[in-house]
Amino acid sequence: MIFPSAIDNDDQSLIVPLPSPIDPEKLPQHIAIIMDGNGRWANAQQLPRTMGHRAGVDALKRTLRLCSDWNIKVLTVYAFSTENWSRPKEEVNFLMTLFQRVLKKEIEALNLKKVRINFLGNLDQLPQRLRDLINESIELTSSNSGIQFNVCTNYGGRNELVLAAQKLAQRALDGELDPSLIDDNVFARELFTSRYVDPDLLIRTSGERRISNFLLWQLAYAEIHVTDTLWPDFDSISLTNALLDYQSRRRRFGGVDSIVNEKL
Ligand code: IPE
Ligand code: IPE
Ligand code: MG
Repeated sequence: MIFPSAIDNDDQSLIVPLPSPIDPEKLPQHIAIIMDGNGRWANAQQLPRTMGHRAGVDALKRTLRLCSDWNIKVLTVYAFSTENWSRPKEEVNFLMTLFQRVLKKEIEALNLKKVRINFLGNLDQLPQRLRDLINESIELTSSNSGIQFNVCTNYGGRNELVLAAQKLAQRALDGELDPSLIDDNVFARELFTSRYVDPDLLIRTSGERRISNFLLWQLAYAEIHVTDTLWPDFDSISLTNALLDYQSRRRRFGGVDSIVNEKL
């Protein structure tokens, strides 16, 4: 077992080795994370909620780095939901500014690490400057060969399904599509995630046992790992535990018993 101090080092030029109990042959291809608990983390330390969001950015940087080093193909994180607009205006503004600042500051390093970034959600409603940065980052990293990193921003699973239904209905109306030919694959091609395999593993931090409108279609057969750890405290041990939990599962996909990932 690798010791945590060796895993959580800051030297980006080093590749963090996969901890030995994790089987490299049975890694999930796609991990999705509901990064929850920033506010509670801050409250517990009598700090304003905004400090929790700042600390959450560090946890995300750590997690992306580990997923990249451990050869996970796709990481999709929930950063801001369509329901999060209902938070106090100050918090929403803080988050939008934080996303902008972090993206600007980190994009070169992500590009050097060969990360390919994408943003999933209804991006039209985001502030123009953030949208510009998002478009530049997608463009800059589009031909990178490393981990696919998806940030769900103003994302809602229901909204995504409604948009897909609208697009299919329009194509049918235009005479391009026979409605009787709409099947799972045709439908999935209209989703924000059309280019990625479905998540194999969903991690939710802070102990809540709900999906909160995240990837409603794509999580159909994901294994779910809930941890009480608050997102800012999520580290290499937390990720190791999630992966070991995943590797202990028997995925059946509605069929009879099979070992994890046999289908992949
Ligand atoms: C998750 O942490 C971050 C966002 C939803 C933007 P929260 O802000 O939801 O933290 P809690 O759940 O209130 O502790
Ligand atoms: C889910 O967390 C959304 C994100 C992590 C961005 P919330 O804190 O918004 O979810 P609820 O309100 O607990 O369901
Ligand atoms: Mg929350």
